[in-house]
Amino acid sequence: MTPDSTGRIRTDIAHNARVWNYWLGGKDNYPVDREVGDQVVAMYPSIGEVARADRAFLGRAVTYLAGEAGVRQFLDVGTGLPTVDNTHEVAQRIAPDARVVYVDNDPIVLTHARALLTGSPEGVTEYIDADAHRPDRIVEAVRPILDLDRPVAVMMLGILNFVLDTDEARSIVRTLMAAVPSGSHLVLTHPTLELGGEGNAEAMEFWNKNATPPITARSRAEFASFLDGLEVLEPGIVSCARWRPPAADAAEGADAAEVAQFGAVARKP
Ligand SMILES: C[S@@+](CC[C@H](N)C(=O)[O-])C[C@H]1O[C@@H](n2cnc3c(N)ncnc32)[C@H](O)[C@@H]1O
Repeated sequence: MTPDSTGRIRTDIAHNARVWNYWLGGKDNYPVDREVGDQVVAMYPSIGEVARADRAFLGRAVTYLAGEAGVRQFLDVGTGLPTVDNTHEVAQRIAPDARVVYVDNDPIVLTHARALLTGSPEGVTEYIDADAHRPDRIVEAVRPILDLDRPVAVMMLGILNFVLDTDEARSIVRTLMAAVPSGSHLVLTHPTLELGGEGNAEAMEFWNKNATPPITARSRAEFASFLDGLEVLEPGIVSCARWRPPAADAAEGADAAEVAQFGAVARKP
């Protein structure tokens, strides 16, 4: 193990948050991340499109939630490294008083959190170092920051895929959604082998031998089970690239290219 000055960051093994940052064109990554990232691209050439489509979906979902749906509180679990149009930027552009709490367990995300903690003066932008495997702790940590009697958008983009046990993943979602009231929303993305994506399975196998944390894909039925008891908004469970694509694309009659990542937004009745 090669810790850096924080004593926690490992530079000898690729980390998901840093490789994701590399695929998005960011600079917050190490040679080991770029090496593994390039090897994954060689096996699964559309992974960069998946990462970009996921971020674009985040932007459209948060725009809808802060705008039309009037949500003012966001709990973004599995934040990732800061990039363009992070949740608080999109939300506070529309509603400067929006309160955004980020949660991640990667030490490099914590190190860079200072860059994230610069939201609008009217709103709140906080970062919590916590593990999705302990949703009860997340709820407790969030309680002093968000008003859990008012709607919260719980965002879990590209993170349940790191909870390998599907029952546990369902239980995490249930615990978080049980802590928030009616009118709250769940925003999810998740990789799948059911939407094409040449080389995806092979790349995941490679990832699990060479990087951390280990990942799994899920079927549409498994993804749908995370949304049990919630009202899934139009257009339902689709490739995240096809969730309410930008008006310009629709006007041209062009369907956004499908990527192998499910996306959905659902409302707690
Ligand atoms: C694929 S990135 C997605 C980032 C962002 N949500 C997005 O969609 O662009 C997954 C993030 O989840 C974080 N993560 C993975 N397992 C986690 C866990 N058990 N608890 C908290 N965060 C976790 C990683 O550190 C990484 O930042």
